[in-house]
Amino acid sequence: MGSLYENILRPLLFRLSSRDPEIAHEWALKSLRLLGQRTFLRRMIERRYVTRDPRLKRKVFGVEFPNPVGLAAGFDKNGQVLRGLAALGFGFIELGTITRHAQPGNPRPRMFRLPEDQALINRMGFNNEGADVVAARLRRMRKLPIPLGISIGKSKITPQEDAAEDYAYSFRTLYLYADYIAVNVSSPNTPGLRELQSEKHLDQILTRLRREANELQTTEAKQKPILVKVAPELDMKAIDAILEVCRTHNIAGIIAANTSTTRPNLKGYTPEAGGLSGKPLFTKACEIICHIRARAPKFAIIGTGGVFSAEDARQMLGAGADLVELYTGFIYKGPGLIKEINKGLIPKTEEENTLSR
Ligand SMILES: Cc1cc2nc3c(=O)[nH]c(=O)nc-3n(C[C@H](O)[C@H](O)[C@H](O)COP(=O)(O)O)c2cc1C
Repeated sequence: MGSLYENILRPLLFRLSSRDPEIAHEWALKSLRLLGQRTFLRRMIERRYVTRDPRLKRKVFGVEFPNPVGLAAGFDKNGQVLRGLAALGFGFIELGTITRHAQPGNPRPRMFRLPEDQALINRMGFNNEGADVVAARLRRMRKLPIPLGISIGKSKITPQEDAAEDYAYSFRTLYLYADYIAVNVSSPNTPGLRELQSEKHLDQILTRLRREANELQTTEAKQKPILVKVAPELDMKAIDAILEVCRTHNIAGIIAANTSTTRPNLKGYTPEAGGLSGKPLFTKACEIICHIRARAPKFAIIGTGGVFSAEDARQMLGAGADLVELYTGFIYKGPGLIKEINKGLIPKTEEENTLSR
């Protein structure tokens, strides 16, 4: 028995936006904006969707999270509907990815649904309003009730050799508003971006960002956590190399993983290029998380890729993640999923409670 969203709203939304699924996304943003603006409505939705339970709380890289289930980057690219999203019960939101320069992204359609696989393919291409505009929006906004991560990426027009400076601009501009900064070097939709995961490039970017953080906040202890988001195609040797660079620069953790350029055993064939997200990613994401946890016990890990249920979240946390994030599951299962997962994560016994801490 599915939810109201799965039985009625989703079929309607999917049908009306079958030519361009991004239309459904735009409607969702409009509704969430309205929700954010109407206090009465927001309180009503919060009462229905937010799970408040002290056993769900987590403290990771020095930040307090009311629950471990976040919204992954890419849903609210410009930070326009954060308050509405917070009312749906997420434990945190990752805004972005933001680039130094505003950019339109790839031509539409650029988002595709694969319902048989519970997956999406997207080649959005970092469509966003740019660091300055988003910073101005965040400056006007009241503090959110949940932590906010800000994902930064490289602008398409910036040459590869100037990548570090491009990231540094967005970092400096958005730093004040973030509870953590996610360095996205793994989106498949900006030409050459994934090359920035190589030791040499990553070292240059992180050296630059650490210098920037030192200038913004002189005591290292108080600096905001920086995380690096990796691609799911990396082999374990490449991941080890990334962990080594991250250690050198005192990086707080890894977000694993971004969308995939592979098409593992898909039931619904589609020739569309772009990054695959959703269920087909789950096993790979858990493998990477497990590997990172074994190699770098002190690193924080945010797991993402194919979380569709409380059981999935449990497995990902069990593999070693401290927090999980989702995007595609939210599209297929609707806002009720966050509560479903959180309820499922509340330890049933005192013994489980001790283990989950
Ligand atoms: C339409 C769409 C846009 C995305 N945009 C971004 C982005 O801008 N930055 C980023 O780091 N990840 C982006 N992602 C990847 C997600 O944050 C997440 O890592 C990935 O989708 C796997 O999680 P999921 O299976 O729960 O969707 C995007 C995903 C989708 C589906």
